[in-house]
Amino acid sequence: MSTRRNFLKAALITAVGMAANNASPVSAKSSILPKGLIYTKDDPGPWAALADAHIPAVTINGGKITVQTNHVMTEKHYIVRHRLVTESGEVLEGKTFYPTDKKAISVFDLPARHQVIYATSFCNLHDFWLTKFKV
Ligand SMILES: [Fe+2]
Repeated sequence: MSTRRNFLKAALITAVGMAANNASPVSAKSSILPKGLIYTKDDPGPWAALADAHIPAVTINGGKITVQTNHVMTEKHYIVRHRLVTESGEVLEGKTFYPTDKKAISVFDLPARHQVIYATSFCNLHDFWLTKFKV
């Protein structure tokens, strides 16, 4: 599990770094990444039919960021984790879920010094997804 976690972390940092350097949406640059690492609304890979259930939705209200993945939460299929990550790859916040959680919703404080942030969502069966947003 640790090896998989490190691999996904390195992939995200690579994607975020490329997006920051080029000031382009990650989805526009995902073609230069190995296929099957990170999925977005614009690049859902093999999971296009399941994209709506995996893309992290972000709302900002009253100094808080809410990340929600509208996904089932069962023992065999669930969202494992949400994270907020800066363009330079710094993990700001995160929440780990369990199959017993009813919903994949996380609420974080609005970071003061970042304008662009990535929300990530990891499904145990359908991989790693992200949404880029402006604060
Ligand atoms: Fe899934």
